[in-house]
Amino acid sequence: MIEITLRAGSLEATETDALVVLAPSGAQSADSFGAGAIDAILGGLIGRLLNAGDFTGKAEQVAVLYPPESAAFKRVVLVGTGNGDVPLAERIRRAAAVAGKCAQDVGAKHVAICGLPDPVEATTTAVAEGLILGLYTFDSMKSKAADQSKIEHAVIVCSGDVIAEAEAGLRVGMALARATSLARDLANLPPNVCTPAYLAEIAVRIAGERGLQVEVLERGQMQALQMGALLAVAQAAHNPPRFIVLQHNAHRSAELDTLVLVGKGVTFDTGGYSLKTRDGMIGMKGDMSGAAAVLGAMQAVSELQVEKHVVGIIPASENLVDAAAYRPQDVITASNGKTIEIISTDAEGRLLLADALVYAKRFAPDAVVDIATLTGSAAAALGGVYSAVFATDAELRRALEHAGETVFERVWPMPMAPEYRKQIDSDTADMRNSSTIPKAGASVATMFLAEFVDYPVWAHVDMAGTFVDSGASAYIPAKGMSGYGARLLTQFVIEWTTRKGV
Ligand code: BES
Ligand code: ZN
Ligand code: ZN
Repeated sequence: MIEITLRAGSLEATETDALVVLAPSGAQSADSFGAGAIDAILGGLIGRLLNAGDFTGKAEQVAVLYPPESAAFKRVVLVGTGNGDVPLAERIRRAAAVAGKCAQDVGAKHVAICGLPDPVEATTTAVAEGLILGLYTFDSMKSKAADQSKIEHAVIVCSGDVIAEAEAGLRVGMALARATSLARDLANLPPNVCTPAYLAEIAVRIAGERGLQVEVLERGQMQALQMGALLAVAQAAHNPPRFIVLQHNAHRSAELDTLVLVGKGVTFDTGGYSLKTRDGMIGMKGDMSGAAAVLGAMQAVSELQVEKHVVGIIPASENLVDAAAYRPQDVITASNGKTIEIISTDAEGRLLLADALVYAKRFAPDAVVDIATLTGSAAAALGGVYSAVFATDAELRRALEHAGETVFERVWPMPMAPEYRKQIDSDTADMRNSSTIPKAGASVATMFLAEFVDYPVWAHVDMAGTFVDSGASAYIPAKGMSGYGARLLTQFVIEWTTRKGV
């Protein structure tokens, strides 16, 4: 991964393959965005581009300019940051991604970035996210590496009086981008590689690197805990299930706020006996994207040493078909004693989450957030633009909305109501796992989950629309997994404050 450092100093003397200059929309002169000295070396080229109207600074517009050979920098990549309709940080992420790709395409190995607008801390974070995520590729399954030259090092150049802010911003940006890259890697890996045991291995690796506490439960331990819902899904699993629990600041749980993050870890969803179609199965290697988001966030919050007790819970299983598989009309019992009549074996995610949400209670959480590729219904409603959020607490919902806007992994509120619960009334058991009416599926699934939530502050994020490329932007790959959720959860954990004692 590209290394990013900071430097306070003069731009003219910056030795680099490509000097990236962030240019705002509508600028009249290079001076107005701090590039006057560079423009002088370029013999006034930037000024001429601006005057001619060839370069307006609109979002993601790029121009590559060449200074005389005597200059310290070999090229200038001028990139527009656009204006108002999208938040500034997001425009910077996209501009950094566009400029990074452009510089890499012309063979640059080293880039320098300048022209970061205020507030420097937030825009430095955004530059790091945009650069790293824009240059992300998934090629670990190719037998030969692509013979493209890659940017190895980026230096962000800023003035000495804001270097402390830039440092703080860079630290956060690197952690966020690494979290998303990890989530993308895991979701992109094929289901014969990224098994429940593999997710557990990654959790153990992160724990070792970062000093997190980790526990991995196997089938026998899940049986002892009577996790009948998770175990029903795992009955036909060829690769055995795992129940992964990671904790950051576990030893300080008494004094700190406790936040629990739960991620659906279905490493492949065939639908089980309620079999998906041939085409419906494609993409289902990414049905562990909630788990990937939680793993990414746990890595980031520990890297950033966030002053909270954060617990990550990942129920992981395949959903396959064989003679041992659970059937429609089976009745199973979850770990809180509630009975569930199976209607669709394809509504398996909520079964995994049920036992995980019950388990979350033992941490006496101040807030619990689960995230899952749960229903086609959420994807149909919101596409790849927003995830659906359901919450029992308005402040928690607002906190997720705010964090989502900040990192631009947005969530939109959707309703919970007793009327939706009626759709899963069962004649035989306490509830059914799905409705036979194909309406409001995301809300119905949430009412199912609520049966396993025994604490006041809980939210559920349905990311079935956002886990893939459909929201593609300059730093979200047009093909493959988006890594959605890792930055959302990390930012949420950073921002959340519990009203302790209120
Ligand atoms: N993993 C799927 C949901 C999904 C579908 C995620 C498409 C991403 C893209 C989930 O397990 C599922 O199959 N849900 C069913 C539930 C239904 C049977 C009640 C769905 O949404 O159709
Ligand atoms: Zn399913
Ligand atoms: Zn699923």
